[in-house]
Amino acid sequence: MDFTAKMLRDDALKGKTIVVTGGGSGLGKAMTKYFLELGANVVITSRDLEKLKTTASELENVTKGNCLAVQCDVRHYEQVENLLSETLKTFGKVDVLLNNAAGNFISPTERLSANAFDTIIDIVLKGSKNCTLAFGKHWIKEKQTNCNVLNIVTTYAWTGSGYVVPSATAKAGVLAMTRSLAVEWAKYGIRMNAIAPGPFPTKGAWDRLLPGDLAEKFDMSKKVPLRRVGDHQELANLAAYLVSDFSAYINGEVITIDGGEWLQGAGQFNLLEKIPQEMWDMLEQMIKNKGSK
Ligand code: HXC
Ligand code: NAP
Repeated sequence: MDFTAKMLRDDALKGKTIVVTGGGSGLGKAMTKYFLELGANVVITSRDLEKLKTTASELENVTKGNCLAVQCDVRHYEQVENLLSETLKTFGKVDVLLNNAAGNFISPTERLSANAFDTIIDIVLKGSKNCTLAFGKHWIKEKQTNCNVLNIVTTYAWTGSGYVVPSATAKAGVLAMTRSLAVEWAKYGIRMNAIAPGPFPTKGAWDRLLPGDLAEKFDMSKKVPLRRVGDHQELANLAAYLVSDFSAYINGEVITIDGGEWLQGAGQFNLLEKIPQEMWDMLEQMIKNKGSK
C-alpha cells in the first residue's frame, strides 16, 4: 500500500448526496470520483455546463455511480438556490456541501483593477458564503441533522501571501466562516471543516499561478520538506474522511495537507537546512568553545 491507495471502505459514503462546487475539473473532479466510488450521489457544478456534462458521464462510466451536472455561477445567490432545488429534485436530499470552486491568478496587487480584486473575492468568499447560507438555511428549516460543509482553503489563509492577495483575503474569510459556523450551527447538527492543501498540480492552478516557464523556474516540490507535490488521491482520501460519518466529532478544524510546506517557510531557522551535515561538528565546536562567557 502507498499514499496513492484508496483509504476508506467501499460503502463509506453510501446514501449520502454531496454537492461539489468546481467539480468538473482538477481537485474537485478527483474528490468527486472518490465520493462516487464510495457510494455517494454527487452533484457537480460550475459555470461551464459542457465541461460538467463530460466529467459527469466520464465519472459515471468509471465508477457506476450517479453524478448530476448542474450549471451554477456561485457568485449569484439565485443560481445557488437553483442548484439546491435541482439537487433535491434528483436525489431528494443533500447531506454535504463541498466549497471547492475558486478563482485566482498571480499579480502585483497595485496592477489589479478594482474589478479584478472583486472577481476573486466574489468567486471564493461570496461564492462559499452563498452556497453555505443557502444549504444551511435549507438544513435548518428541514430540521435535517448529520450534515456538513467542507471548505477548500489554502495555507496562506493564515500566513497571507503577496502576489495572490485577493485569494489570500478571500480564503482567510472562508476560514473565519468555517470556524464561526462550526460553533453557531453545531446545535443544528451541521459540522463545518476545511482542508488547506499545499501544491497539488492541476491545469487550472498551474496555468494561472505558474504560467510559461515559471513551473520549471519555481519547482514547487523544492519548497516542500517532503520534496514532492501532493497526489490527488491523498487529498480525496482526506476529503472523503472529513465528509463521512467517521469524522463525526471533528468540527471547526482546518487540516493542512502540504508535506510541511508552510512551516518550512515559517520557522526562522529552517534555512539552516542548507548547512551540509559535515559542517555541524565544526559549528558545534565553535559554539561550545564560547563556553559560558
Ligand atoms: C490582472 C486580471 C488577470 C491577470 C483577469 N484579470 N486576469 N488582472 N492579471 N492575470 C482581470 C480582468 O482584466 C478583469 O478586470 C477581471 O480580472 C475579471 O476578469 P474576467 O476574465 O472578466 O473574469 P471571469 O471570466 O469571471 O474569470 C475569472 C478569473 C479566471 C478568475 C479571472 O481566471 C477564472 O475563470 N478562473 C477560474 C479557475 C481558477 O482560477 N482556478 C485556479 C484556482 S487555484 P477588468 O477591470 O479588466 O474588468 C487556487 C490555488 C491556490 O486557488 C494555491 C496554490 C498553491
Ligand atoms: P481548478 O481546476 O481551476 O478548479 C477551480 C474550479 O472552480 C473550476 O472547476 C471552475 O469551473 C470553478 N469555478 C470558478 N469560478 C466559478 C464560479 N464563479 N462559479 C462556479 N464555479 C466556478 O483548480 P484546482 O487546483 O482544482 O482548485 C480547486 C480548489 O483547490 C480551489 O479552491 C483552490 O483554491 C484549492 N487549492 C488548490 C491548490 C492546488 O495546488 N491545486 C492548492 C491550494 C488550494 P468553471 O471554470 O467551469 O466555472
